[in-house]
Amino acid sequence: MHEALQLADLIAASGRLVVLTGAGCSTESGIPDYRSPGGVWSRHKPIYYSAFAGSAEIRRFYWARSFRGWQRFSAARPNGAHVALADLERTGRVAQLITQNVDDLHQEAGSRQVVQLHGRNRLVVCLGCGTRTPRQEMQDRLAELNAEWIARAAWEGLAADEADFAPDGDAELAESLVGDFRVPGCQLCGGVLKPDVVFFGEVVPPERVSESMAAVDRADTLLVVGSSLTVWSGFRFVKRASDRGIAIAIVNIGPTRGDDLCHLKIEERCGLVLSAAVEALGISAVDGSDVAKPETRNQKPETIQIDLKVESQEPGMGGGSRPGETTPH
Ligand SMILES: NC(=O)c1ccc[n+]([C@@H]2O[C@H](COP(=O)([O-])OP(=O)(O)OC[C@H]3O[C@@H](n4cnc5c(N)ncnc54)[C@H](O)[C@@H]3O)[C@@H](O)[C@H]2O)c1
Ligand SMILES: [Zn+2]
Repeated sequence: MHEALQLADLIAASGRLVVLTGAGCSTESGIPDYRSPGGVWSRHKPIYYSAFAGSAEIRRFYWARSFRGWQRFSAARPNGAHVALADLERTGRVAQLITQNVDDLHQEAGSRQVVQLHGRNRLVVCLGCGTRTPRQEMQDRLAELNAEWIARAAWEGLAADEADFAPDGDAELAESLVGDFRVPGCQLCGGVLKPDVVFFGEVVPPERVSESMAAVDRADTLLVVGSSLTVWSGFRFVKRASDRGIAIAIVNIGPTRGDDLCHLKIEERCGLVLSAAVEALGISAVDGSDVAKPETRNQKPETIQIDLKVESQEPGMGGGSRPGETTPH
């Protein structure tokens, strides 16, 4: 695949590569994104933080759907894109990975140098005392409290994939079906429990942003994988990379807000492209050593031709959040 070889050359030529990933990186693991063609954005609007924090009714609705979607979300496993990025880090080619995803699949694949900008869906945080507990524990408590509701719930008869499964791990559930679903409070202080992810209308913790921005400021190449960059929370790093004049590559099916700023755009499935690039680089997934693979690449990589003189432009797409305003869940 010619494009994968171009990407391999870019990675080989990079001294300090930073990677930014989005929901598109996990679609091949079975977790949908918002903005794929025909994606769920039009059908499933995420709940805003203010609504969640301010209304017990909305929390009941949120948790009932989340309860329904958890089994499928928690069963997702890393795909070729996650594995390839972990291989690149392990062999010293990725300095920092910044992800907008909340699914932990990068860590599960073996990436260690990860900033999870929008938090972790596998944890629950108490809005009263700040205590974090495993999401599975919440699932067990919800199941216990709602045994009767579960027994008579209309969706019980549905197969998991018949229910509409939403990007942030919950499933579509008509408001009328939520009924008397009960939501437990924090076991320490009785406070409101929320998944430990940054909701729309919530601010990304500044230390996560500054750590990521510092990595971009030290980088000589930024690779974006599976993000439409619609949300400012991720796009800001592409803007900064562009302002610094470093190389930018994007692997994404469909348009992104960074298309005018990048030097290499690959419109292909990221699992496919990244695995092929890793293979072209001769990285062995088995023992971690770099192995020359004559059948794929036995010559010195061509010098990659990238025109770095791209003028920085204001984003061409509307609809993204403004700084500090964010974001997605
Ligand atoms: N897995 C998760 O944790 C998850 C899932 C959905 C949404 N989110 C949250 O929602 C927000 C949405 O923003 P976003 O930019 O990350 O996602 P997005 O939905 O805006 O964009 C995803 C992009 O990936 C593309 N894509 C889908 N599958 C692909 C594939 N296999 N290969 C290449 N490209 C592919 C889509 O066409 C789309 O352009 C994020 O901030 C994130 O926090 C997280
Ligand atoms: Zn508490």
